[in-house]
Formats: sequence, structure tokens, C-alpha cells
Amino acid sequence: MVVASLIERKRGGEALTAPEWRELLQAYGTDAVPDYQMAALLMAVFFQGLTAEELYTVTDTMLHSGASLDFDGWDTPRVDKHSTGGVGDKTSIVLAPLLACCDVAVPMLSGRGLGHTGGTLDKLESIPGFRTGLSLEEAERQVRTLGCAMLGQSRDIAPIDRKLYALRDVTATIESIPLIAASIMSKKLAEGLNGLVLDVKTGSGAFMVDVEDALALARTTIELGEAHGCRTTALLTAMDRPPRWSVGNSLEIEECISTLQGEGPSDLAEVILALGSEMLMSAGVAGDPTEARCRLEDALASGKALERFAALIEAQGGNPAIIDDPAVLPQAEEIEVLEASAAGVVQSVEPRRIGLAVIELGGGRQRLDDDIDPSVGFVISVKPGDRVAAGEAIASVFARDAEGIRAGRAALEEAIVIGEVGSLTPLVSHRVTAAGTEVLEVT
Ligand code: URA
Repeated sequence: MVVASLIERKRGGEALTAPEWRELLQAYGTDAVPDYQMAALLMAVFFQGLTAEELYTVTDTMLHSGASLDFDGWDTPRVDKHSTGGVGDKTSIVLAPLLACCDVAVPMLSGRGLGHTGGTLDKLESIPGFRTGLSLEEAERQVRTLGCAMLGQSRDIAPIDRKLYALRDVTATIESIPLIAASIMSKKLAEGLNGLVLDVKTGSGAFMVDVEDALALARTTIELGEAHGCRTTALLTAMDRPPRWSVGNSLEIEECISTLQGEGPSDLAEVILALGSEMLMSAGVAGDPTEARCRLEDALASGKALERFAALIEAQGGNPAIIDDPAVLPQAEEIEVLEASAAGVVQSVEPRRIGLAVIELGGGRQRLDDDIDPSVGFVISVKPGDRVAAGEAIASVFARDAEGIRAGRAALEEAIVIGEVGSLTPLVSHRVTAAGTEVLEVT
């Protein structure tokens, strides 16, 4: 294999063969191909894309570079959800225990905060004692006994993706739809799934700001999932404002508990029911959205989903007392309420500004090895289109000191714009399956 000539052919728009891709990626995995050559190849892929066959081979090679969860001989269907990342996105933490009460199992592989977005693992680790670093054997055992486990990508899962992802991060090659799809699916397919639902966020707080890019990512990822025998569908959900109410690690856990108690914000509940219904249908245990929704609503109303969350926390070393007493979660030293400066209609609540402010307050990382303060963040009770009176409480800042309160207040004042008109984009705008795309407009 002459790597320079593979780069040259890819740069010229030619497809590499499956054996060429396999040999190249495997050699990269053992350090036989240096980063500088792989970086040049990634940039060629960034501009030229991948054919369907190349995409399949790249994904498959990354998938098989590591281990997979092994559920052979177990007939409970496994299903997961992947979100492309947003601000205040806490759906995974509610969905895992909820779905585990509906005759499916959820081996949920999650990530940490990236850029301005928060990460499920960081949120879970705000629960005192909670351990996300499960081994594959521990995760398998827990999924079989409890129906769900929540873990991070260990060194065992798709190690070539891990290495390539770090390289893409520093060579401006993250934002390539085929490379993103291959990277996501090489990890998700290692979970031994029967079904997968993608939650593709769109809007200013998402990585895929435009609907067209979000649809392209959904279609590419669905093609890969289906080619690997995993029924894959996608919903496009709104990230042009933070989902109510909270943004920040422990605050979001508290909101997940309220949602599992049936007392959370209605828009979060709506997105959870939409994603959860897709998950039940992709696992083949519900025939249509009405049946799926009924099962989810029963699991919430009966308290079973909340009980399962307590069991999940306990199984992973966390303190389940947070369910009855959220004050057991890390609490901010300082809280300040922001009031509307004038009467009017909320025009926008800019999610990116809020996500970056959580990092500024210490709730996210500026460097890879930073510790995070789980107690800080925001509760925002308004959304675009809401009418507010002057002096009405619209948000709160949770910080560790007066400096944090000042920074948080400044962020809220910039992010929440009050004017004369404001409109809301649909919470769930499109459903994409292998058969095509439907416009949904769920508000
Ligand atoms: N998430 C991933 O796992 N991979 C990407 O390339 C982008 C987001």
C-alpha cells in the first residue's frame, strides 16, 4: 500500500476499494500510518465525500477494531437513541429507564460535553457516586438484569474511531456528514442493537444548524444502520432555544426526576414521548405511535420508570436518595433571579450563548482535563413566543460566587431578547426512515 497514492486518488474524487480502506485504517490503528498522512486523507474525504460502499467499509472497519456488547441468545430487543448534541438536552437520562419498563433493553452509550453542548456522562456524574466507566462485561450484565445501563466509550469500543476523532478534532475535519455518520455508527453498532433512533438537533444551538444538513446526516446514518441490520430512524428536533427548564448538570438531573414524576416541562415530555415511541417502533414492540405512546405514558404514570431510574442509579454506585431529596445533588452557593426588563414577547432565547455561559460558570470544560462544577447553570422559564410582563421572573442563575452570578446574568441578558413578536419552530419537525421523509410539525 502506497499511502500517498491513495490520498492522491481520493483527492481526485476516486473511490478507494474496500480492501484498501481496511488495510489503511487498520495500519492507522497500529500507528503504521502517521497522523499527517491520515489528516491529508481526511481532508480529501471532507471535500470529495464517500460512496455508499466506502462509507460501509469505513464504518465496519472502525466497528470491528474493538469489542462489542454480546447479547447472543437473548431475545429481548435492544434499542438506543443517539443525539447529535445540544444545550440542556437531557432526554437520554429519562429515556433509558423509561424504555427499560416497556419490554426492550437499552444499552446506552453516551458522551461528554463537546464545544458549547453538554454531555450525558457529565450530567450523570453529578449524582454522588455514579460511575459511568463500566466495563463491557458489567454493562452486559446490567442490561440483562435491569434492562438498561449508561456508559461511556471505553478504549474497547471502536478504538480506530477514537483515534480518528481526536485527529479530526484538530484538523478541521469534524463537520463532514459521511465521517460523522461513520463515527457515530461504529460506536452505536457495537452495542448489539436491533433498533436505533437518531435525534438530530437543528437550529442555532445545534452542530447541524440547517435542516437540509440535518436531513442529509439522518439519511446517511439510516443507510448505514439498515445496511448493518439495525432498524434506524431519525427525528429532527428543535435546538433554536434551550429545551425548558434547566441547563447545567445537577439542575438537569433534578428536571429528569421531575419529568419521571410527570411534573416536568411539557415540551421536554413531548420530545421524550416522540423519541420513545420511535424507539419502541424500531425495536418492533409497538406497531404504531398511538400504541407506543400509551405504553410510555403508563410506565410514567405508574411510577415504574422512576423506580427504574432509582435502580439504575444504585446499580452504578450512585446515591438513589436524590429521587426523594434532590438537595442531595450538588447545590450552587449563589442563586439570582432575572426579571424581564420590559413587557413584550420573547423573541429568542439563544442556546449557544447559554451553553457557553455554563462553561464560563465552571459547569463545562475549557480544557480536556478540567474538573467541572456540577452545581452551576440556569433555569429558564420562558421560550420564544411567550408574552411577559415587566418585572416578571423569567430565569435564574446558579453560580458558585458573585462573579459567576455577574457572568450568568450578563449571558441571560444577551441570550433572552424581548420584543414585539416571537415565534416558535416545531419541537419535532421531520421524521426520516429508510422509506422517506415526513414533515411533522409537532409543537
Ligand atoms: N459524534 C461522534 O461520535 N462522532 C462525530 O464525528 C461527531 C459527533
